[in-house]
Amino acid sequence: VFNNVPMAPPDPILHLNTLYKADPNPHKINLGVGAYRDEQGKPWVLPVVRKAEHIIIEDPALDHEYLPIDGLKTFTEASVRLILGKSSPAVLENRYVGCQTISGSGAVRLGAAFLARFRKAPIYISKPTWGNHRAIFADAGLEVREYPYWNPEVRGLALKELLDTLKSAPNGSIICLHPCAHNPTGVDPTPEEWKLIAEVIRDKSHFPFFDCAYQGFASGDLDRDAGAVRYFVEQGFELLVAQSYSKNIGLYGERTGCLTVVTRTPEQATAVRSQLCKLQRAMISMPPAFGARIVSMILNDEKLFGQWMVELKTMADRIITMRRELFNALSELGTPGTWKHIVDQIGMFSYTGLNANQVKVLIEKYHVYLTDNGRISMAGLNSGNIRRFAEALDWVVRN
Ligand code: LMR
Repeated sequence: VFNNVPMAPPDPILHLNTLYKADPNPHKINLGVGAYRDEQGKPWVLPVVRKAEHIIIEDPALDHEYLPIDGLKTFTEASVRLILGKSSPAVLENRYVGCQTISGSGAVRLGAAFLARFRKAPIYISKPTWGNHRAIFADAGLEVREYPYWNPEVRGLALKELLDTLKSAPNGSIICLHPCAHNPTGVDPTPEEWKLIAEVIRDKSHFPFFDCAYQGFASGDLDRDAGAVRYFVEQGFELLVAQSYSKNIGLYGERTGCLTVVTRTPEQATAVRSQLCKLQRAMISMPPAFGARIVSMILNDEKLFGQWMVELKTMADRIITMRRELFNALSELGTPGTWKHIVDQIGMFSYTGLNANQVKVLIEKYHVYLTDNGRISMAGLNSGNIRRFAEALDWVVRN
């Protein structure tokens, strides 16, 4: 059996961590995987998470029983409200489902499995998109197609091409959308542009599937970052939203997420929940408890929630500062080209416009690790390495 198994290629994002760790150069810089780092370049456990952990661990009633198939109810209920808003029509009319998942990726996978079973239609992903979207959707049995997203000329949104593609897609297609902090480009549609996108999706009876991995991380404001999802719900759409707590609460390894579904009626929500449970049981049985307990505690306690808001803003603001400092350093160096997009882009990443050859030089000559599409994780920059990175970038652009 095993003689016929060829080597699979390494994951283009996660493999960078392996290369980075193996590099003995003391000046190496990791701008690959999208994970927050503090000013010292270290992972940051949010103090509010530490607090919640202690409360959970010290609770004498804590046990390690299985969670229900659809997860911890206090967690899913709070997650639904976090993304849709407490006074969302879907919440008030009880036409929603929240199902706990193995972080955002698990939510995308569960949603994809559900759609492959109940909506036999192609799914359109943005070009470019997060490196794992295509694999998840294809492995779940969906036919994957693309809509243009990035206009390299203006280093911004290819709105016309995007709308044209959605218009010419077969009616009833599934459209995967990033509601904020688009990965990898950092370019989000404006509220006006979201209206135009929603209009085409409605006219064509398409089905929106939001992948929301960065709520609060984009602007530091949870409500603002949920704006696109909430607009679609107000407009009466049925939809799916994948939520992740990897970035905004920093629970990367705890794999804590939620798949939120908005239906037309409460009866539909009950049926959808039963099918999600059936799918989830066959895939993972039930989700893990610890991360969900932490999030549930933070979302359901006013004081802890307030503390989280401050810490979330600390992360978002540090990234915004790094954008400004990188832009200033490139301006000082007089690096050829325009770099304003670095400050205009939103969220964890900047899509620099560097090509695969330039990336190769950055890795081999400068020990700077980034994905070959030119995406950099802004969180990997700090005041200790930003100048060095700017100089390396300046060199590859000039040579
Ligand atoms: C990224 O895009 O770097 C992150 O979302 C991590 C991942 O799983 O790829």
